[in-house]
Amino acid sequence: MGKVALITGITGQDGAYLAEYLIKKGYTVHGIKRHSSMFNTDRIDHLYQDPHIENRNLILHYGDLTDSMNLTHIIGETQPDEIYNLAAMSHVKVSFDTPEYTANADGIGVLRILEAVRLLNLTSKTRIYQASTSELYGLVQEVPQKETTPFYPRSPYAVAKLYGYWITVNYREAYGMHASNGILFNHESPLRGETFVTRKVTRAVSRIALGMQQKVYMGNLSAQRDWGHAKDYIRAMYAILQQDEPSDYVIATGITTTIRDFVKMSFSEIGLQVDFKGEGVNEVAVINFIDENVFIEKVGETYLESLQKRIGQEVVGVDPAYFRPTEVELLIGDPTKARERLGWIPKYSLEALVEDMMASDVKEMKKESYLKEGGYKILNYFE
Ligand code: NAP
Ligand code: GDD
Repeated sequence: MGKVALITGITGQDGAYLAEYLIKKGYTVHGIKRHSSMFNTDRIDHLYQDPHIENRNLILHYGDLTDSMNLTHIIGETQPDEIYNLAAMSHVKVSFDTPEYTANADGIGVLRILEAVRLLNLTSKTRIYQASTSELYGLVQEVPQKETTPFYPRSPYAVAKLYGYWITVNYREAYGMHASNGILFNHESPLRGETFVTRKVTRAVSRIALGMQQKVYMGNLSAQRDWGHAKDYIRAMYAILQQDEPSDYVIATGITTTIRDFVKMSFSEIGLQVDFKGEGVNEVAVINFIDENVFIEKVGETYLESLQKRIGQEVVGVDPAYFRPTEVELLIGDPTKARERLGWIPKYSLEALVEDMMASDVKEMKKESYLKEGGYKILNYFE
């Protein structure tokens, strides 16, 4: 019999990669998904199995981190060897708009899971991974940030996650549970939600290249983030639960980059050089040069002519609507403990991450543009 894992947040970026990874390792994976008025399983549809198939290795349950009876029922029914608590209202800016809900889901939600495991007498069987975050460091007290760096959260999201972090530590110490925190720094991928900065940029750059969009408006371009690839980070989650002793780990690359440089890298990946000028809300970026060979290889000759007309024009601007009431200006992690104890080393560089995301978005946006064009033609036909 293989092991049984329960993943909350299975429909999210990390949940999707982790589910695939665990299934490949022979696990039976149970996932909790929220009810939605539309299908919300795009990221895991390739893993989906018809409920009538016997011995399925992916089983989905409706649930919500704000519903303790529901969570207790699912945990009791599935008797998991490992729980990966990845579900969360994970958008920092949105948490300022929905602080109470964020506290409930991201803070008390963690308690609901720990307490369910305890009440069901699963403390010696079930290992728990809590998705903690570099946002805990917020107004950073030390550079780089490591496991012993004091926390200073700067958003309702981070404050809720602070509770999640400490309640995990508390249940470990109070009840001897195998419960661990992964303090993960930002990790991205082609599956990243479209409103997080990297995906917003790679989508917009792809659309600008294809002539589908003129300009993208950004928030704080000077913030710095330690970005890795989600595929590397889910390997760390798994490794943390395979240790004999539970503990807390920083998972990061140790390299930090500004949002501005990420924007430049994304344009450059498809042969476009952009230069930034101006300051604050007046900062803009213009296209200065096209490396035609790279553009033709990565995007296609068809789109070159219309883009050439855009040289010297603005493609990036700033809109203060994207500023946060309190900002996290700098994150850079020290992953020494993870390297030494887990043997965890990321395989993707930032360049490889950008390449992966841009290739995926150029493809996806071409499909979108084609469908729109097709739709238009069909409409004309019927007229
Ligand atoms: P994500 O793409 O936003 O996925 C979040 C998942 O949680 C989705 O499946 C979402 O469901 C689900 N969810 C949200 N609220 C829920 C609720 N009340 N009950 C049940 N499920 C709920 O996030 P991610 O990037 O994969 O991150 C996974 C976890 O790691 C999160 O806890 C996040 O806070 C944390 N984290 C992420 C990063 C990062 O850089 N990605 C870094 C550190 C920590 P829907 O699909 O229905 O929305
Ligand atoms: N989203 C967004 N949109 N962010 C922008 C924009 C914009 O238009 N312009 C600049 N930024 C800046 C934000 O102000 C922030 O400093 C940085 O880009 C990164 O923003 P996000 O990509 O939204 O991520 P985050 O760092 O706030 O939070 C993510 O990483 C955390 C780990 O550090 C989320 O995945 C959290 O769930 C995660 O815990």
